[in-house]
Amino acid sequence: MEEKILILNFGGQYDQLIARRVRECNVYSEVKPYDMTLDEIKAFNPKGIIFTGGPESVYAENSYHPAEGIFELGIPILGICYGCQLIAYHLGGSVVPASEDTAREYGRTETNLNNNCPLFAGIEPKLITWMSHGDYMAKVPQGFVLSAFSKACPNVAISNEQKKIYGVQFHPEVNHTEHGTEMIRNFLYRVCGVSGNWTMSNFMNESIEKIQNKVGDGKVLLALSGGVDSSVLAALLSKAIGRQLTCVFVDHGLMRLNEGDEVEEAFRDWDINLIRINAEKRFLDKLAGVSDPEKKRHIIGEEFIRVFEEIGKQIGSVDYLAQGTIYPDVIESGKGNADVIKSHHNVGGLPDFVDFKEIIEPLRLLFKDEVRALGRELGLSSVLVERQPFPGPGLAIRVIGEITKEKLDIVRKADFIFREEVEKAGIRDTMNQYFAALTNLRSVGVMGDGRTYDYAIALRSVVTSDFMTAEYTHIPYEVLDKVSLRIVNEVDGVNRVFYDITGKPPATVEYE
Ligand code: XMP
Repeated sequence: MEEKILILNFGGQYDQLIARRVRECNVYSEVKPYDMTLDEIKAFNPKGIIFTGGPESVYAENSYHPAEGIFELGIPILGICYGCQLIAYHLGGSVVPASEDTAREYGRTETNLNNNCPLFAGIEPKLITWMSHGDYMAKVPQGFVLSAFSKACPNVAISNEQKKIYGVQFHPEVNHTEHGTEMIRNFLYRVCGVSGNWTMSNFMNESIEKIQNKVGDGKVLLALSGGVDSSVLAALLSKAIGRQLTCVFVDHGLMRLNEGDEVEEAFRDWDINLIRINAEKRFLDKLAGVSDPEKKRHIIGEEFIRVFEEIGKQIGSVDYLAQGTIYPDVIESGKGNADVIKSHHNVGGLPDFVDFKEIIEPLRLLFKDEVRALGRELGLSSVLVERQPFPGPGLAIRVIGEITKEKLDIVRKADFIFREEVEKAGIRDTMNQYFAALTNLRSVGVMGDGRTYDYAIALRSVVTSDFMTAEYTHIPYEVLDKVSLRIVNEVDGVNRVFYDITGKPPATVEYE
């Protein structure tokens, strides 16, 4: 990728969103920690640099600052919020805390733009921007001109066209800012002078070439789960190296109903070696009696690798293990150590010892929507490309507590009914993930004339853009009604159905 934009993360919450916006403008971007050295920046050779926002004040004792000399590199810079204040602070302006009633702004703010500034070219001069700042630029640095103002704040945007340095107090990357993406596009095309070569078709061709060069005539093993990432990866690798690729679909007995058959069917016409392994007993034996969610994840992650190693040995001289890791999993940020809420097994739960020459991760630079776009480019069926996410540990984390075959069968049937009714009602597009889980609550019910003492199923459905936060879906009562009736009637062992109406936070999407 020759044309790159560097996004330096100063601890803002929108770093990934900025990267995605830039890429939506067909320009490749990467997020790096704010303390990247000047030499590293030069080696990265970006066409432009974007400073993100951040939680601190620029004058706070431990606040984050960029490498010295960054403003003298001659590379265009766009500072957003805290990033804008950094520009003012370092180039001789001044930043001060806003008082209660002036200059402090949160939320939607009417803003006036100067269209002579390249950043705002062709954009309405009066619009709504999204602000979130407690400090403001009291003095604009020398050589800079003001290019936007609002009622509360006289200095909303600054520019120095000669040095190609720009700063905005508001967040152009969030949807609430009208024409925000156009502003970013202006920065990229009018200021940085990019040509816009980041397209999925370019990425596909480059990746195929890289994979071919790397792998040579070696053999590659891929764990195909049927999820979007591993399916797209299978298609990409198949195009690059054909039958040097072996896909292994491990049925760990924790899949949804008919899932194994569906995956096999989806890849039937592809020129790949596909091995389907029934490892249900093996996994369930290892999981017997385990109720701690993190233990479950680690056992499953470890067992996965053991199965692959064995298959690898059977195939003989497998050199590479391919993994569908994607960019949000690997992105480095300057935010310090966040709490581990759950260790998603393709990141946190792998055992240290992996018996292959190397792991290759051709999708590690892509965001999820880009993986889907690549899948479409490769000609994968929309059924696979648009699939909702399914966690690596599968139903193991949807049966709360100890796992048994009986409980798995219950949740499988309930989940199938839920999915079927969602499809029938035509409301699939209103939710990003939806499933049934088996709570470990048993309670008294009455069926016919008899007393029952059965499990409760929880239905979960969320709307989310990044799965970091989520809201529950407002499913029509009639649909919930049908699902509930069918589950208690058709699934033995269930006498209650709950619909979960919590968001994330405070809950998470899955139950474990
Ligand atoms: P949570 O429950 O953390 O879920 O709010 C966010 C998203 O991640 C998926 N998830 C997992 N995916 N291995 C995975 O590959 C896991 O262990 C795992 N746990 C949760 C979850 O389905 C949702 O899409």
